Amino acid sequence: MKKTYIIANWKSNKTQIEAIDWLEQVVSSKYPVASIENKEIIVCPSFTLISEVSFFVLENSLPIKIGSQDISQFSSGAYTGAVNANQVKEFGEYAIIGHSERRRFFNETDEILEKKVILAKEAGLIPIYCVQGKDDKVPADVILVAYEPVTAIGTGTPDTPENANAIASAITSKNPQVQYVLYGGSVTPDNVATFTSLSSISGVLVGGASLKSDIFFQLANNA
Ligand code: PGA
Repeated sequence: MKKTYIIANWKSNKTQIEAIDWLEQVVSSKYPVASIENKEIIVCPSFTLISEVSFFVLENSLPIKIGSQDISQFSSGAYTGAVNANQVKEFGEYAIIGHSERRRFFNETDEILEKKVILAKEAGLIPIYCVQGKDDKVPADVILVAYEPVTAIGTGTPDTPENANAIASAITSKNPQVQYVLYGGSVTPDNVATFTSLSSISGVLVGGASLKSDIFFQLANNA
C-alpha cells in the first residue's frame, strides 16, 4: 500500500507551552492510531521546540516523526545563529529544505540549497525538498519533494488537484531519483483527500491547518 506523508510545518509559531498543549491534546484525543496506519506523520517545529517535542513524542509513544524547517548550509563551526544537520539529527529524521519562504525572505539560492541537501544526507536526515513548479532544480540526493505553488501558500486558494497531479508526475519524470511528491498550499481536512487520492501525489505539507492538533489529525485521518 502506498505510504502517505502528512507533514506539519509550524513555521515561526508556538511557544513551548503551546507546543506541549498541542501534543497533550493528541495524547488525550480520540484519534485512533489504526486510522493513521500507512501514514507517516511528521511534525516540524521551530528549533527552540524540537528537543522538547521529540522527547514528548518518545515518552508518550506518539505515532509522530520529527523534522526541522531548515538546516544550516554549513557543518559545525563558527557560524553564529546557525543550526547544523547533525544537531537536528539528534532529535529528528527529516529536514524541510528550500521552502519558498526561505528562498524569499532569506535569499536562499539553488546553490545554497544543494549544499543543505548534501549535509542533510551526510547527517542521515531525509530532506523534504520544496519546489514551486515542475522546472525547479531538484538536487541529486532528493527522494522526497513537496510541490508548493506560492499562490497557494497561506491564501486559502489551493492548486487544483488535476494540476497538482500533473506537476507531480512531471517532477518524477524529470527527476528519476524522486520517489515521492507531496502537495502543499492551503490543504485542509476538507480538501486533503482530493490530493492524496491522486496517483502521483504521496502526501501533503501543511502549514496553517497544522497549528491545531485536532484539525491536523482530522486532516491526517481524512488523507
Ligand atoms: P499553508 O502552508 O498550508 O498555510 O498554505 C503550506 C506551507 O507553506 O508549507
